Amino acid sequence: MDKFRIRGGRKLRGRVQIGGAKNSALPCIAAALLTGESVTLHNVPYVRDIITQGRLLEDLGAQVLRPELRTHKISAANIEIFEAPYDLVKTMRASVLVLGPLLARFGKAKVSLPGGCAIGTRPIDLHLEALKHLGAQVSLEAGYVVARAPHRGRLQGGEVNFDKVTVTGTENVLMAATLAEGKTVINNAAREPEIADLAELLNRMGARVRGAGSPTITIDGVEHLGAAEHTIIPDRIETGTFLCAAAITDGELELKDCRPEHSAIVIAKLREAGVEIEEVNQSTLHVRCCAEGLTARDVVTEPHPRFPTDMQAQYMALMTQAAGVSRITETIFENRFMHASEMQRMGADISISGNTATVRGVTRLMGARVQASDLRASACLVLAGLVAEGETVVERVYHIDRGYEKIEAKLRAVGAEIERVRESVTAQLPPAAEVGVS
Ligand code: UD1
Repeated sequence: MDKFRIRGGRKLRGRVQIGGAKNSALPCIAAALLTGESVTLHNVPYVRDIITQGRLLEDLGAQVLRPELRTHKISAANIEIFEAPYDLVKTMRASVLVLGPLLARFGKAKVSLPGGCAIGTRPIDLHLEALKHLGAQVSLEAGYVVARAPHRGRLQGGEVNFDKVTVTGTENVLMAATLAEGKTVINNAAREPEIADLAELLNRMGARVRGAGSPTITIDGVEHLGAAEHTIIPDRIETGTFLCAAAITDGELELKDCRPEHSAIVIAKLREAGVEIEEVNQSTLHVRCCAEGLTARDVVTEPHPRFPTDMQAQYMALMTQAAGVSRITETIFENRFMHASEMQRMGADISISGNTATVRGVTRLMGARVQASDLRASACLVLAGLVAEGETVVERVYHIDRGYEKIEAKLRAVGAEIERVRESVTAQLPPAAEVGVS
């Protein structure tokens, strides 16, 4: 398993290119199952989860070509298999996103239940309840969800009221409803920018979706969807991570090709904490830290447009370097503080009570061997390593490879002393040829 070796203490300076949003590309790739015509996606990040999603589609019978590294051309003309198997779903929960499209187009789908993951139980009960409101028959068989559309293989439009905001749940139902007979209204829908991006792709394919990005989405079902070309939005979590990287190292970065409006709450919170962030234009941020030093500020994670749970770990790393006491409350996932104990091993003063972490700063972090437990926790440990005294070794960086494209190269290019220590060939990303570059 690869590791990162980091020597802390370097101020980052320079320009960072922000990539496409993994959490948008994942549903957009699944959406290609809704048509037999070709769907071309640009600005798809080259990260492990995306490769996994592409392989899942290939296993179902789709053709996934990469005419360029970050362009996917997907044709789902010949789908023969309607199942997302356990081995895949357990490695990547977002594979449940094939459920809605398969059910909508072919009237049948079988998807393994995801089970637990490092950050909590993460059920898909809300996805299933919602699909039942579109007329799906759903049963559980040997750890699998087996879903059918009994009315001539077609789902029926209906009203879906989510009890809790769910991002992939909203996406699954949104995709399913595009080919349903009649009108669907989704209430209490997730409002993440990735939902609006997916809706934009679906509308380009011929769907009739209104209100995506608001709590109520209306979909008028159509008979067929067709070919489309779409560019994935920039990754707001990668953007936030690099804002924190500049701030924690007392550095200065320019972030290119980002969407500041998608990171508004993170930018506002970092500014409150003393980070100087300027919106140079609609796709560029300039970040500098910090004339007066960082000041502790509390955050509570909540669905968009509030503070994202996917930035909680990185923000916690930053708060170890802020003067005062900050309380970080996690309301989305029940077990998402695993990075705290690793940072304690580096000298951070963090105590956990229920779903709140109390961070006392400023602490001098000391390099140590630490283990990444999930994707964003690994980003947090890298940030801590950038400011720690001496050498930090972050183990299990396959987690970070799931969602950050070449983070170590991007950090090195702006002055960080970080290297990947390769330990096994199998843990590495496959070369481009293996993922269907043509
Ligand atoms: C998505 C993101 C993930 C992010 C999360 C919250 C993708 C691929 N992943 O995950 O990066 O951290 O949103 O912003 O986009 N829940 C249920 N039943 C369900 C579905 C969800 O109880 O059927 C609960 C979850 O356990 C969690 C909360 O609802 O407590 C929100 O989860 P959800 O928004 O569904 O997260 P994901 O879509 O899995």
